[in-house]
Amino acid sequence: MRRKIIAGNWKMNKTPSEAVALINELKPLVETQDADVVFCVPAISLIPALEAAKGSNIEIGAQNMYFEESGAYTGEIAPNMLTEVGVKYVIIGHSERREYFAETDETVNKKVLKAFEHGITPIICCGESLTQREQGVTIDFVRQQVKIAFLGVTKEQAKTAVIAYEPIWAIGTGKVATTDQAEEVCRAIRQCIAEIYDDETANEIRIQYGGSVSAASAKELFSQANIDGGLVGGASLKTDFGKIVNY
Ligand code: PGA
Repeated sequence: MRRKIIAGNWKMNKTPSEAVALINELKPLVETQDADVVFCVPAISLIPALEAAKGSNIEIGAQNMYFEESGAYTGEIAPNMLTEVGVKYVIIGHSERREYFAETDETVNKKVLKAFEHGITPIICCGESLTQREQGVTIDFVRQQVKIAFLGVTKEQAKTAVIAYEPIWAIGTGKVATTDQAEEVCRAIRQCIAEIYDDETANEIRIQYGGSVSAASAKELFSQANIDGGLVGGASLKTDFGKIVNY
């Protein structure tokens, strides 16, 4: 039985002091034994967030990481900077990073490999645009993203990965995918993992749905056979996140 994982993607929201206040507010609301709960906060808030989350079930994740160890990469954050302070998860390849910061399947793959090398669990994002959905290429496109993201990743590493299926047209739009749409693609992703590795790996890897998840939609989405939780943007900044975690 796969353990659910509900992650909040705070994006570029909340100052460090606001982050601490929000964690303190949400802490009692997201308490659960039944799922992993991760708050992916802006880099500058990682340390105060880790401090604020101490003693709770909340894990702290980053929203990005660079694929080199150190050096002349102005503005970037290295994996050992994350591990030294206790960051356990990192979002890789979010569609906003692909769109605004020129991330590609290849850089996503490099980051995924680097995260595993440092023992950080990547939350690997994939998902189609509205045009691609209308063109009927959703599954082909997502399979390609997944195949490239996992190039060189070992079976043992892959088992511990998290994949977030996030249709771009559903992100921040209030237009959540239907349960059938979400389950269909998550099932196809699991099938793709089975083809790359084997059934055992496919059965262990966790696949989230993301895109306008709300307290109202979480239960049905997360009850699907191939959906193991969610990556939540807007609603993770509100007390609603407690309802989503305890769906
Ligand atoms: P949303 O964002 O829940 O606000 O749609 C999800 C995401 O981008 O991870």
